[in-house]
Amino acid sequence: MTALELARRGARVVLACRSRERGEAAAFDLRQESGNNEVIFMALDLASLASVRAFATAFLSSEPRLDILIHNAGISSCGRTREPFNLLLRVNHIGPFLLTHLLLPRLKICTPSRVVVVSSAAHRRGRLDFTRLDRPVVGWRQELRAYADSKLANVLFARELATQLEGTGVTCYAAHPGPVNSELFLRHVPRWLRPLLRPLAWLVLRAPRGGAQTPLYCALQEGIEPLSGRYFANCHVEEVPPAARDDRAAHRLWEASKRLAGLEPAEDAESDEEPQPEDPGAPSSLSSPHPEEPMASEPYPSPQSSPDLSKVTRRILIKAEPEPQAS
Ligand SMILES: NC(=O)c1ccc[n+]([C@@H]2O[C@H](COP(=O)([O-])OP(=O)(O)OC[C@H]3O[C@@H](n4cnc5c(N)ncnc54)[C@H](OP(=O)(O)O)[C@@H]3O)[C@@H](O)[C@H]2O)c1
Repeated sequence: MTALELARRGARVVLACRSRERGEAAAFDLRQESGNNEVIFMALDLASLASVRAFATAFLSSEPRLDILIHNAGISSCGRTREPFNLLLRVNHIGPFLLTHLLLPRLKICTPSRVVVVSSAAHRRGRLDFTRLDRPVVGWRQELRAYADSKLANVLFARELATQLEGTGVTCYAAHPGPVNSELFLRHVPRWLRPLLRPLAWLVLRAPRGGAQTPLYCALQEGIEPLSGRYFANCHVEEVPPAARDDRAAHRLWEASKRLAGLEPAEDAESDEEPQPEDPGAPSSLSSPHPEEPMASEPYPSPQSSPDLSKVTRRILIKAEPEPQAS
């Protein structure tokens, strides 16, 4: 739904999916539904660091612009896979961490640009144990815990990324889509139970279109740049528990993630290269990345109060148009 909305607004959309068959089919459907031919599939398996690197190389060599990077993919269970590492952390946080790192130079030359990390309210139950961050997860109890931990990692990642990117024109946000009627948990329920649960899920959970609104808001809403690094739900910035605004933990996670993602010190420095001066017409992103935690009633713009999403998209798209060729 997020991709469809962006395509409808005329953006060039790269769908990064692990299955070529499903990814190509989704890209085809999105082109049909949006009437926008600029929707393409590129292979990415977030469980594999090699695949993340291959995707980044392919993307950087074929796509001159990256204005909005949305980390939406996620898993809630390891299914039948038995990996010698924490698969939930790998797919939900380490893969996106590495990808962000590898694509940062491109984001920096496309400012004002954004990173949106789709997290979850489950982060509130997360507790990061740095001594066993990458331990394999076994059984549904450990999986539930690892899911919450990985979503806490998303919130801390957005926070630390905002700190690291302060003044660059790249801003980032953690977004909770709400309880959405999707395959996230249902696909791991026994087959015989699914027909019973589906109607219930349809009744009580948000439709995917509703779930896309907060990630879209974080991707497009004008004026939220001073809230870079914050957590959004229902298109509003929200308070997070102490564990999710612990700057020391955020920095420690950053360092641990570099190690788990296999980032070399030289690559770490590389992402600092190519910074360009910010677009003077762009909204300022130079304010502190973590301004005072606002109360829920503060008047931050919401899609209801601000009809400007199309304007922001237009700004992004205008920037996305190819430069005129020198004759
Ligand atoms: N649903 C909710 O209630 C809810 C609530 C809070 C937060 N969220 C978050 O929302 C995001 C989207 O979840 P969803 O509800 O839309 O779940 P979903 O229907 O299961 O979609 C998850 C997507 O992630 C992709 N994916 C899984 N493993 C991958 C990998 N190794 N590499 C690349 N892509 C991979 C899946 O691809 P395949 O098609 O190949 O499986 C699928 O397209 C997740 O980050 C989730 O944590 C969801």
